[in-house]
Amino acid sequence: MEQEVNASAKPIEALDSANSQYQSTGNPSPGTEIKVFAPATVANVVCGFDVLGFAVNEPGDEVVMRVTDKPGITISKITGDNGRLPLSPEKNTVSVSVQHYLESIGRTDLGLDIELHKKMPIGSGLGSSSASTVAGLFAVKTLLGDDRDVAKLLPFAIKGEEMACGHGHADNVAPALLGGFVLIRSYEPLDVIRLPHPAGLYCAIVFPDVDVPTREARKIIRNTIQMKDAVTQWGNIAGLISGLYTHDIDLIGRSMQDVLVEPVRSILIPDFYVMRDLAMQAGAVGFGISGSGPSVFAFTRDEETALKITQALQQHLTGIKINSHTYVSTINDAGPRVL
Ligand code: HSE
Repeated sequence: MEQEVNASAKPIEALDSANSQYQSTGNPSPGTEIKVFAPATVANVVCGFDVLGFAVNEPGDEVVMRVTDKPGITISKITGDNGRLPLSPEKNTVSVSVQHYLESIGRTDLGLDIELHKKMPIGSGLGSSSASTVAGLFAVKTLLGDDRDVAKLLPFAIKGEEMACGHGHADNVAPALLGGFVLIRSYEPLDVIRLPHPAGLYCAIVFPDVDVPTREARKIIRNTIQMKDAVTQWGNIAGLISGLYTHDIDLIGRSMQDVLVEPVRSILIPDFYVMRDLAMQAGAVGFGISGSGPSVFAFTRDEETALKITQALQQHLTGIKINSHTYVSTINDAGPRVL
């Protein structure tokens, strides 16, 4: 029998940092260091544009944070970004989010140096900026012994996302921070709910090596929608949520249809519909764009089918001269972790 995982449907409470007081249990001395991993995420989950996302086990980013003796934040090193990310602390989403957090708890006296190790492609649709930001926030929270709920970090992570893509959506940062499958029921006020999911649900991810910046992929989406499309979409979202609660994998698969965003964004992804056919023929439960793309993902009932799908899609992409990276994972219920 399938086991229920993280079935609490309670809203994550007290997201407003004013709701509970930060109490530091320690004042880390210069030289104290921590290394944190935060996971990649699949946002939207096909029908839930900006409201659904889940975390995976790999890939993910790593942040090394070191306490220094001079107040302020520095970034000494970024690896794995091919020189694309700014070292300037005013321009980097990790340092900016950490700075907002330090201001909120009145600890701008602290000196911190950050090393960011990108372990996943930028502009891949796998929540690359979110993973970095969440790793940074989790590192500073842990260094300072802030033992409040990790959800307290969400508003700061959203600020980082706003800076990275021009829009503060939470469907990458929330699952990266909280782990598991997450619903953002509302942005104002922020109301975030952790959803259950069937145990044994596998995710096959293929990243075709073409760059699709989220900022650009958001610009091409239509601003108005037809009522008949809205009806189809909310039926599917409700179906997907029902499937997650009842562990009905067929229902999850049937609900993975998107009539609003995928028809537009799929044009940015090489052979999207060919890849979908290949994945479904190989036994996928459902298939779609991961976040704003170009990564695509499929749910499967087992690891073997997930591997079969990644191989078939990679082979196809190689045939049309596009490099790719593949990942197979279960849903990551843990979120960020100290390494
Ligand atoms: N919901 C966001 C979008 C996720 O689709 O633009 C970006 O990864």
